Amino acid sequence: MESSRSFAQSLDREDKLRVFRDQFFIPKDKNQKDVTYLCGNSLGLQPKSVRDLLEEELEDWKKLGVEGHARGKRPWRDYHEHFSQSIADLVGAKIEEVVAMNSLSVNLHLMMISFYRPAGKRRKIMIEAAAFPSDRYAAASQIRMHSGHIENDLVILKPRSQEDFIREEDILSKISELGDELALVLWPGVQYYTGQYFPMQKITDAAHRVGAKVGFDLAHATGNLPMQLHDWDVDFAAWCSYKYLNGGPGAVGGAYVHQKYFSQKLPRLEGWWGHRKDNRFTMPEAFEAIPTAEAWAISNPPIFSLTPLLASFEIFKEAGGMANLREKSIRLTRYCEFLIKENFGSQVNLLTPSDPEQRGCQLSLRVLGGKSVHQKLIEAGVICDWREPDVVRIAPVPLYNRFEDVYNFYEILKGIFK
Ligand SMILES: Cc1ncc(COP(=O)(O)O)c(C=O)c1O
Repeated sequence: MESSRSFAQSLDREDKLRVFRDQFFIPKDKNQKDVTYLCGNSLGLQPKSVRDLLEEELEDWKKLGVEGHARGKRPWRDYHEHFSQSIADLVGAKIEEVVAMNSLSVNLHLMMISFYRPAGKRRKIMIEAAAFPSDRYAAASQIRMHSGHIENDLVILKPRSQEDFIREEDILSKISELGDELALVLWPGVQYYTGQYFPMQKITDAAHRVGAKVGFDLAHATGNLPMQLHDWDVDFAAWCSYKYLNGGPGAVGGAYVHQKYFSQKLPRLEGWWGHRKDNRFTMPEAFEAIPTAEAWAISNPPIFSLTPLLASFEIFKEAGGMANLREKSIRLTRYCEFLIKENFGSQVNLLTPSDPEQRGCQLSLRVLGGKSVHQKLIEAGVICDWREPDVVRIAPVPLYNRFEDVYNFYEILKGIFK
């Protein structure tokens, strides 16, 4: 590999996925030049086809009114079903195990209502010390709802001292140490701060060995890495769709429930969209669950917050799915890592694991100069994000980022350090 623009451009020329960048709007800087957008870990870009799809829904509403539920181009009544196959493919699930609904934190709560059932001495939820705050609040509030005590029942695992990320062996040994006191492991697929990708199957196996349930927050994993939730026997998962899925700000998220739970009488918050479809509109008094993950859907789907996902999933499909994207992603992130390690020495400290098996596309960097460097990157047209206390996160996304974007980032950062 070489630290040169011509080398980066040669990698772009060989890239079979390069055509997909054209299907997205790239934000512009103040001179109307494309920015270097490395922030798909926070908000994915807008597919160009979104507007037409939204127009179609607006037209149906304009022309059909309520009739759009049954007679729309994509009838609104079952709108969320359009997403199930694409989601199932992305997370490695059966179509009946996934449902597009709500937002991530809401879905985590709905899942914990069903899967966090403290009883006897089995009461603890294990999370990581740097868990996304919303997950921590959600877990703590679930414990309080069951009259538990946060000090006892919320187990927080930290990396070893002087280390940035949690070792696999420490996660697995903590699970077995907690044993029959452990009710639930609530863990990220990819850690939002460090970009570490966790061994989800091993965590699941370890949790199941001690009789605990396991649920994953896949905010930073869905659309970033291929997964096999069903085969790994994961109990539940939830994610948002505004990051790697390009569904737009606040887009409808999703949830996965393993099919083995469909025949079990789990406690659940229920609403009419989880009720059998064939007699839902006869307004029966008693709830009868759809025997799929849709049983967890409560309300009818919000059409305009779902539509952008149709556009994005179409592009994922055209690009050949996660396997193709992952292959490019590994090369793109590795090139980014090469440029950083080769050129910046101690000015930039990489927090993300170097092993591609332990990360997705995101790299988290501790940069000399901290926030002021981030500010200068933004001013110079590199859109990346800052996470307190000291990390710049960059995510070269294989659907729309080029090797040249990664090179731009390096060159601008080099200028800032000068
Ligand atoms: C890892 C993680 N978990 C949870 C959330 C909260 O998501 P929401 O606001 O959609 O509930 C986010 C948001 O960025 C996140 O990154």
